[in-house]
Amino acid sequence: MKISHLKVNGVDTPLGYCFDYLTFSWKLEGQLDKTEECRVEISKEEDFKELLWRGSTKSSFNTISLQPEFLKPKTKYYWRVTYGNCVAISTFETAKMDEPWKADWISYREETRDCVTFSKNISFTKEIKQARLYAVGHGLYEVFLNGEKVGNEYLTPGYHSYDLLQQYQTYDVTTSLKADSELSFIVGNGWYRGRFVFEGGFENIYGDKQQLIAELHVEYTDGTIDQFVTDETWIVKTNHIQDNSIYDGEIIDFSLEETLLTTQVIDEDKNLLTARLDLPVEVMEEFAPRVFFDTKNQMVLDFGQEITGWIVAEFLEDKSSVRFEFGELLQNGAFYTENLRTAKQEFVINNVSKGIKVRPHFTFFGFRYVKVEGLTQEEAALVVAQSLQSKMDETFTFKSSSSSLNQLVSNIRWSQKDNFLSIPTDCPQRDERMGWTGDIAIFANTACYNMETRAFLAHFMENLKLEQRLLDGATPFFAPVPKVNDAQNPFLTNAGAAVWGDAATFIPYTLYRHFRDKGLLKQYIELMTDWVDWIYKQDEARGGNRLWDFGWQLGDWLALDTGIKGSVFGATDSALIASTYYYISADYTAKMLSVLSDNRFEFYQNLAKEVRQKIIDTYFIGDELNVNPVTLQSEVENIRQSMAQKYGGVTIPTAIDTQTGLAVLLRHGLYPSEIAREKLKNRLQEKMAENKGYLTTGFAGTGDLPHALLDSGLHEEAMNLLFKKETPSWLFEVEMGATTTWERWDSILPNGEISGTDMNSLNHYAYGAVEDFIVEKLLGIQLPNVLDESETYVIQPNFTNHLEWVEGALQTANGNLSVSWTISGNDVTVDVILPGRTSAEYVFSNGEKIYLKPGHNKMKDVMA
Ligand code: BGC
Repeated sequence: MKISHLKVNGVDTPLGYCFDYLTFSWKLEGQLDKTEECRVEISKEEDFKELLWRGSTKSSFNTISLQPEFLKPKTKYYWRVTYGNCVAISTFETAKMDEPWKADWISYREETRDCVTFSKNISFTKEIKQARLYAVGHGLYEVFLNGEKVGNEYLTPGYHSYDLLQQYQTYDVTTSLKADSELSFIVGNGWYRGRFVFEGGFENIYGDKQQLIAELHVEYTDGTIDQFVTDETWIVKTNHIQDNSIYDGEIIDFSLEETLLTTQVIDEDKNLLTARLDLPVEVMEEFAPRVFFDTKNQMVLDFGQEITGWIVAEFLEDKSSVRFEFGELLQNGAFYTENLRTAKQEFVINNVSKGIKVRPHFTFFGFRYVKVEGLTQEEAALVVAQSLQSKMDETFTFKSSSSSLNQLVSNIRWSQKDNFLSIPTDCPQRDERMGWTGDIAIFANTACYNMETRAFLAHFMENLKLEQRLLDGATPFFAPVPKVNDAQNPFLTNAGAAVWGDAATFIPYTLYRHFRDKGLLKQYIELMTDWVDWIYKQDEARGGNRLWDFGWQLGDWLALDTGIKGSVFGATDSALIASTYYYISADYTAKMLSVLSDNRFEFYQNLAKEVRQKIIDTYFIGDELNVNPVTLQSEVENIRQSMAQKYGGVTIPTAIDTQTGLAVLLRHGLYPSEIAREKLKNRLQEKMAENKGYLTTGFAGTGDLPHALLDSGLHEEAMNLLFKKETPSWLFEVEMGATTTWERWDSILPNGEISGTDMNSLNHYAYGAVEDFIVEKLLGIQLPNVLDESETYVIQPNFTNHLEWVEGALQTANGNLSVSWTISGNDVTVDVILPGRTSAEYVFSNGEKIYLKPGHNKMKDVMA
């Protein structure tokens, strides 16, 4: 038996994190007994002589939470899990908590430079027992001791709402300090002050100059303590980094003379400083290039996979100038960057000597191809690409007899990796890369199958929570929200639209469903209640109609059903979509409150009921779908039409019985009777046939469509949809050689041409939401219902002749839950390996159910 993956708040041995709550989690492997509990104990001592806390759980999710009252600053805690006679120990360490900062924020007097180095020489005469560095530099920083980078993290302190919280990092520097040490920080622009946000961007969003605060706490073996803090004695100078920005890249010139600047202590508020929440961004994989000359005779590197990251280069000779430009695709066989809009994505290295390894510091690129100037082909072949990502465990594996489907799953996973960098972003390459809430709302379920996302999404939710508070509960279109003067763009001036805003309920609900982390849920339940309350208040102010038919809505963003080329708006009635999401959010909130035994759940449960009833009353006449409801003339529709006029000069058709309209009603049980359901199903079947089985859905409907088809018995339609290889479809992208998922169904046209450059990324995860259909329906792994205390999984695979076999596994807290099936004629052999301490039932094609036993279960099933 083995206990592994010990984590605190989703982080492995966290050092200097924020611990407003504590959730311990672990994995068990081996012969497990469901009735036996896991014990958790916390102590300050390695031998656990005195316990600070103990608790136990029988849950098969192996998670236990508590509200820690006993934590002290800068303290290491030991915690252990005991299961049977097996024990595993791990640690976590607090940061400064409420301890005031002795250090001052420092900056420099001269006009703003693009990058500076702050440094201090420190000497020690006594033997060091332990040393911790607490620090943060704004915009982005890297820390060095005697020229050696400290730690494996890049792009610290990450992206967050710097106006609302400022996360500092903690480093264990015990072994890197020497008798004479130079501690230095290079600090660049980053999100803090570099050009950021779409439409040309804004500069100095959070501040107009780099600044640093740092404290080095040293404990000697004789028990004495020293602190070295940033103050006016630190040195500031310019360095070789001439230019750096998130979108535009970096210029390094090794011939630049360092200029000494004048250190300035600044009177900056320290109240926003808080221990970190976010996971470290690290190099995850390396890629070697294929070097070729494109049709314009330019030297290009192809790394074979679209990644987010950068390149590392080392030169065989001195070079006066080398330039790399990063792009996603080729057009007519040539390197192409027009869809990056204003983002330059360049890395320029000037006057570099041979043998030096060079990489950028304060930027990242979304790319597969790199155009190279200034190198020979042999030299270019030595360039290595590194992918960067917030470090998370991967938790899902998949293989099938269809190489296209396998590639799709790989593409989805890559779009997740590429956009999970500090915060969940829409895309990693063009002048955007922002924490769009709608994208993660619809992708969260798939994201949680693929990776252990708790800490990553907790950091995002913290930003969301603080932004929401400023907006009186409305959820913004993206978090962080850059607060810029003279913002014109409606996304910067508005907040609170369905689907995007529902990130506030979808993320906490989804995380709980996957990980059953009550500590995390409790910490962010306010996101849910605030958001639903905000909708409710607007609704009440308009008479308590229980329909969400007002305000500015994006509807079914990027759907194809208007017939208008390039339209961002879909045809589905926005009030239908918004009201449906109002219902889902109220329902999720009620469920999560009841999980926390919070009696506010009744209010949201009733609200959900009322909204549901109103949707039924509005969109049905008896058992018939009402295709001409009042909402077609509502405020939301008028605003939408005026937006469509303003931004595209078009009038958008509006309908109820679109694929999206029908799919959301069916998937969320929004119909008055079984007869009505049957009618909806028939209408959806006709709609699919009208479109030759292809989808027309956008952000709001895509995730629901395959599930709605299958759940309504339209098995053929659902499976055919997944396996379509022509446009628009998931596998069309695969056929076109994609290695990530695209923003638009027609990002690239069948003739290989890009469909437009305005808003067209090849690396958006939103439509990758279909992976939850692959997990839940194809493999048939359904997580226990959130209210099911018996925590019973349901395994109900759906077979299709598009495949001969499939196998997939979800890493659960007790080991892999794997399902595989193989078709032979009309018979299907299904193998399920069920981890111990886990309950599951298997549902046969004919509806019969059996309980599965831990270990290997073999079933004979038949094609439906
Ligand atoms: C982003 C999206 C986002 C959308 C909002 C786009 O520019 O890339 O994915 O959700 O705007 O409408």
